[in-house]
Amino acid sequence: MPSERGREQWSTRIGFILAAVGSAVGLGNVWRFPFVAGEAGGAGFVLIYLLFVAFVGLPAILVEFVVGRRTRRNPVGAMHEIGRGIWKHLGWIFVVTTFVIMSYYSVVAGWTIRYAILGLQDGYSDTPAAAGEQFAALAQGVDAVGFHALFLLAIVAIVGLGIRRGIELAAKVMVPSIVAIVAALAVWAATLDGAGAAYGYYLSPDLGTIAAEWTTILPAAAGQAFFTLSLGFGIMITYASYLGEERNLAADGVVIIAFDTAIAVAMGLIVFPILFTAGIDPGEPGVGAIFITLAAAFGELAAGGLIGAIFFGTVVIAALSSAISLTEVVVSYAIDERGMKRARATALVCGALFVLGLGPAYDTVLLELYDELADGILLVLSALLLTAYVAWQWSEEAIEELRRGIGRLGPLGTYWIWLARGPVLVVLFVSLALGVVE
Ligand code: PHE
Ligand code: NA
Repeated sequence: MPSERGREQWSTRIGFILAAVGSAVGLGNVWRFPFVAGEAGGAGFVLIYLLFVAFVGLPAILVEFVVGRRTRRNPVGAMHEIGRGIWKHLGWIFVVTTFVIMSYYSVVAGWTIRYAILGLQDGYSDTPAAAGEQFAALAQGVDAVGFHALFLLAIVAIVGLGIRRGIELAAKVMVPSIVAIVAALAVWAATLDGAGAAYGYYLSPDLGTIAAEWTTILPAAAGQAFFTLSLGFGIMITYASYLGEERNLAADGVVIIAFDTAIAVAMGLIVFPILFTAGIDPGEPGVGAIFITLAAAFGELAAGGLIGAIFFGTVVIAALSSAISLTEVVVSYAIDERGMKRARATALVCGALFVLGLGPAYDTVLLELYDELADGILLVLSALLLTAYVAWQWSEEAIEELRRGIGRLGPLGTYWIWLARGPVLVVLFVSLALGVVE
């Protein structure tokens, strides 16, 4: 077993929590959640999503936590240590998934930088059609490549500085800023003319819709729960591997999940009033939509340029704190298993990501392809395999590891592992099957 000496650690409990929240809060909260919620029956979807988060998300995040803290290694090394037979090689799927996602995540993040600047400079086009043209011009080509590179440079700077001076410090600045700005925007959005109608659309429960459309709502809610909590990438394994003392992982997991959920719900309170006030139909969800319908709504509103710049600036921060967690998965592998120095590993990883991202930056069709492969298949598959192995083959160690820092587990001790053995696997399997079929 490789030596543990010299492995970095978070300096405080709150540092670890904020870094994990920073990873969780991202594009999934800002755009995906409000729209999926709106389309899938509003409050009814929210209810099912909350159930999934509690009964599927919590056990799944704990699975990653215990593996990371027990082994103190990157996902590849961690699986090598706890895996038997072919399971030893499971960690690779995390590294591959992470690489695929990162290569286009940074392109999308580059768009958000461009859109923050756009609000301050030229302003946004004020009809969806014109905004669509504006987006088409900015999203592909030299502009996209430039901002993709800029975003990667920011990652090199933060991840290169290490756990305490880089990732933890950045999270301590970024996460409170996101929370403050999102709260302020939600209050501002409440003053808009369209707020009342928007709340009705977003929050009024429609049980009839759930009953009629549960076959689409259930997988949508499950997929959203995993994506939004950054599960299935080995991120929570990696972040938990830097935990020094033994603390209550169950409590930390609950806090992290609560933060992510609160930000997601608040985003709906911002996005829908803006769209309703501008008289724009919420339309199609998807990565491009935030830059088209919402941007057009900003183009309509008084002071929309400034507010839009603040909004997209916040998205940049949220995307950055998520992207550094993705990058850290691969960097920790290079450090642990290849004996590389952190600075060199970070530069190499981001260099490779730059090259991989050139395709998606030149062609959004390729970007959507990457996204479907990674989100629809790789991420669910890796979460499914990890959960199955830990819950069925490694459960004694998992329960014992969770007990450290908690003492007696009481009902929690068996509850989460039974959830992981059955319901979590079923949900993941169904999502995977639907992802492959599509
Ligand atoms: N959890 C992030 C979100 O909600 C997405 C993400 C997934 C970020 C995996 C990093 C890693 O947007
Ligand atoms: Na999220």
